[in-house]
Amino acid sequence: MPLETPSYIVRFFIGKGGVGKTTTAAAYALKMAMKGFKTYIISLDPAHNLGDVLNTELGDEPKKVYENLWAIEVDYENMIREHLKQLSDKIKDIYGYLRIFNLDKYVDVLRHSPGVEEQASLEKIIEIIKNYGEKKKANVIVFDTPPTGLTLRIMALPTISLVWIDKLMELRLAILERRRAITKITGEEFEVEIAGKKLKVPIDVAEDPIYKELINLKSEYSWINNIITDPSKTIVALITNPEMLPILEAYRAYNFLTKIGIYTKYIILNKVLIVRSVPEELKPKINEQNKAIEEARKLFKDKTFAEIPYLPKEPRGIDDLKDVITYIEDIS
Ligand SMILES: Nc1ncnc2c1ncn2[C@@H]1O[C@H](COP(=O)(O)OP(=O)(O)OP(=O)(O)O)[C@@H](O)[C@H]1O
Ligand SMILES: [Mg+2]
Repeated sequence: MPLETPSYIVRFFIGKGGVGKTTTAAAYALKMAMKGFKTYIISLDPAHNLGDVLNTELGDEPKKVYENLWAIEVDYENMIREHLKQLSDKIKDIYGYLRIFNLDKYVDVLRHSPGVEEQASLEKIIEIIKNYGEKKKANVIVFDTPPTGLTLRIMALPTISLVWIDKLMELRLAILERRRAITKITGEEFEVEIAGKKLKVPIDVAEDPIYKELINLKSEYSWINNIITDPSKTIVALITNPEMLPILEAYRAYNFLTKIGIYTKYIILNKVLIVRSVPEELKPKINEQNKAIEEARKLFKDKTFAEIPYLPKEPRGIDDLKDVITYIEDIS
């Protein structure tokens, strides 16, 4: 059982666009809920389709869609707005004197800066795990993610940020040290002049709001990094179709995730064509597919596989998802 030691587990369903991330994530979440685990499934994809798969309207607040199962489609624009607002509030707090500048103008520009979506998504993941995992005592948190590239950037962010934060902390200490040295020489308080106004600035670590913020960030990013790199808590399921391009993309994703310490345990081959008597025209296609499956099993030789057939009908709604569950029994 996956839930004996940790209080909750986190699962990320990752893969190329259209391979079946949402369908398999929803089937897995339903399976866990049916086993009696309190389960939340959260779509982080800006182009949501979790509601379509569950056949119900979803929004930013959890909606109960089955016994023990709640679903959320994160409001992406709102998430980014909130993130930027928090950022500008923090800047205003820390650099009180910057009120003389028009900060809002910078915030507008930030909206379109590289990295903002990743940062906002990571903040959201942290908020969700804290809220549903820690406070509301969920047993299972399932993330249905945007296509591979963006997801990998989000998941690498804690590792990358922690390196930066350490550098910034060193730099900050050096700045404070210089300020103290100047204060000693001049024998006066350390002041800067901005727009004709003299302002006192901190010289000690204990009273420096920037250093405090760096400590906060470090503790928050270390916390999430510990969760997503703990294989007893967080596991990635890579979804792919039985075709070489998505398999190779999944393999690159797997290597990248391994490099940043995130554990991939499951490979889900979705939309496998199973034809009892193969018509002549389909023979090359089935051959290709079989070769691709063989290659996937070679590339991911120590992973747990699930194969879901190409179903005659798009799986939509709880009953259809129950059919999908029968193919993912080994995914826990
Ligand atoms: N095993 C299957 N058999 C038949 N159709 C399937 C199967 N799995 C998924 N589909 C269909 O394939 C399409 C894509 O599936 P899904 O939305 O789950 O993929 P996705 O990876 O989440 O896509 P996106 O990247 O757009 O979010 C949907 O129309 C879905 O109903
Ligand atoms: Mg999807």
